[in-house]
Amino acid sequence: MSAERLELHLPDESATRALGAALAPALVPGLRVWLQGDLGAGKTALVRAVLRALGFSGTVRSPTYTLVELYPVSRLNFYHLDLYRFEFHEEFIDAGLEECFGGDAVCFVEWPEKAESFLPPADLVLRLSVDGPGRRVTIEARSEKGQACLRRLARCLQAVRPPAGASSSAPDSPA
Ligand SMILES: Nc1ncnc2c1ncn2[C@@H]1O[C@H](COP(=O)(O)OP(=O)(O)O)[C@@H](O)[C@H]1O
Ligand SMILES: [Mg+2]
Repeated sequence: MSAERLELHLPDESATRALGAALAPALVPGLRVWLQGDLGAGKTALVRAVLRALGFSGTVRSPTYTLVELYPVSRLNFYHLDLYRFEFHEEFIDAGLEECFGGDAVCFVEWPEKAESFLPPADLVLRLSVDGPGRRVTIEARSEKGQACLRRLARCLQAVRPPAGASSSAPDSPA
């Protein structure tokens, strides 16, 4: 079985862009990706990097107020959600956000913990944190689909390292 977890140090923003560029081709329709981490950890920056790599050249705003943005990019319908402002999990239902899930769209969700009683399970969970001047990210696969994505991502990162600048600690040993 392949690694279910990957930890990377992202020393600067170009490393975040490199991670986005490696993650983009690993996405498949219907994939659900949760982004956890404090304000300023780099969740939106990573989504922006993924969208750039998928060929979207417009502005990628944080959906803190709009809750959700849809980007029809490349071969995917790509939803970017930010649930930060929710006080109650039920607001997810009131806002009609369930409709984003269940189809073939890829969904990246910031602050999933704000509606976890109503969200479907994640395929991949990315936890971002500030690490000195850079960032640290752990990526955990929570489903077979997520594992396959993580495998493709790891291969892609290996192919571009070291010039991409994303240094990696060893993923968990295979089970
Ligand atoms: N690897 C990195 N190293 C240092 N700064 C980064 C890195 N990746 C992103 N940043 C910066 O961190 C900030 C993250 O902001 P943002 O993505 O809006 O955070 P969040 O969505 O988690 O609240 C941005 O100013 C971005 O330029
Ligand atoms: Mg954000």
